[in-house]
Amino acid sequence: MFYYHVPVLLKESVEGLNVCDGGVYVDATFGCGGHSKKILSELNNEGHLYGFDQDEYSEKNIIYDKKFTFVRGNFRYLIHFMDWYNVKKINGLIVDLGVSSVHFDDYKRGFSFRFVGMLDMRMNQRSGQTASDILNTYSEKQLNNVFRLYGELKNSHFIAYAVVKARRLKKIYTIQDFLNIINPFIIVKTKKKQLSQIFQALRIEVNKELDSLKELLIQAKDLLKLNGRIVVITYHSLEDRLVKTFFKTGNFDGKIDKDFYGNVSSTFKIINRKVIIPCNEEIMKNPRSRSAKLRIAEKI
Ligand SMILES: C[S@@+](CC[C@H](N)C(=O)[O-])C[C@H]1O[C@@H](n2cnc3c(N)ncnc32)[C@H](O)[C@@H]1O
Repeated sequence: MFYYHVPVLLKESVEGLNVCDGGVYVDATFGCGGHSKKILSELNNEGHLYGFDQDEYSEKNIIYDKKFTFVRGNFRYLIHFMDWYNVKKINGLIVDLGVSSVHFDDYKRGFSFRFVGMLDMRMNQRSGQTASDILNTYSEKQLNNVFRLYGELKNSHFIAYAVVKARRLKKIYTIQDFLNIINPFIIVKTKKKQLSQIFQALRIEVNKELDSLKELLIQAKDLLKLNGRIVVITYHSLEDRLVKTFFKTGNFDGKIDKDFYGNVSSTFKIINRKVIIPCNEEIMKNPRSRSAKLRIAEKI
């Protein structure tokens, strides 16, 4: 059985990668292989593509092509894996963050408030804490931080307080358990948006998505060849800010490094000054693309 996910900003992102003959590329978020297939179609027989994904479902979509290697693993260990394959430098890296339609549409995974099921939300189901573990063990302060920072919710402290109070009586295991707790804090008019923000916040925490992204970007800096390209599609403002700052300064503090003579020493040349977003036609065809932001940079 194959899974399907409509690849977002496909043409713009793969064009941004500037695929060259004999080049070595990494798709850090293989998913259903939409971006990988396009890269392979542009790569000659001397080139190679490594596709990473930490989620088991993506193995069902492995592409059987001698130019392709699938790596079941977290992209935060990119350099270790590439070392294993004896690859010291790459020509390009593409990252399409977040989860795929397969995650949202599978009731057993717990990513969506539309279903009845267990609150899991782990992409890698072989390890780590589930969303239910987090709701049952984090302190009120930790939960408030998760909902405020990742969910950008103004009433995060009410939700955190309600979770801690409710779990004293009954542990939180299912989507319905959680919805019963948060429902009194949801405004009917914007219900879908708020629930999406709350579930997204939990998912980001479960999968440590921002930490993984930071580790990936730092490794990409070393792994990319001179003139190698990095292409990142984000779906959350915090992720986009991290990528934007990193491309500009080579770090996450936004501190611009200068040499002894005061010359700015940059790591990347930014290819698109203005962030690329999907056009109206793409959003109409694939509403899940609406929050996507694409940034491209070149190692200098
Ligand atoms: C938006 S989907 C990518 C879709 C893909 N570009 C396509 O066209 O089918 C993101 C994928 O990245 C994977 N993923 C997210 N974070 C990851 C990480 N830290 N390491 C490895 N895979 C990750 C998810 O499991 C998911 O399959």
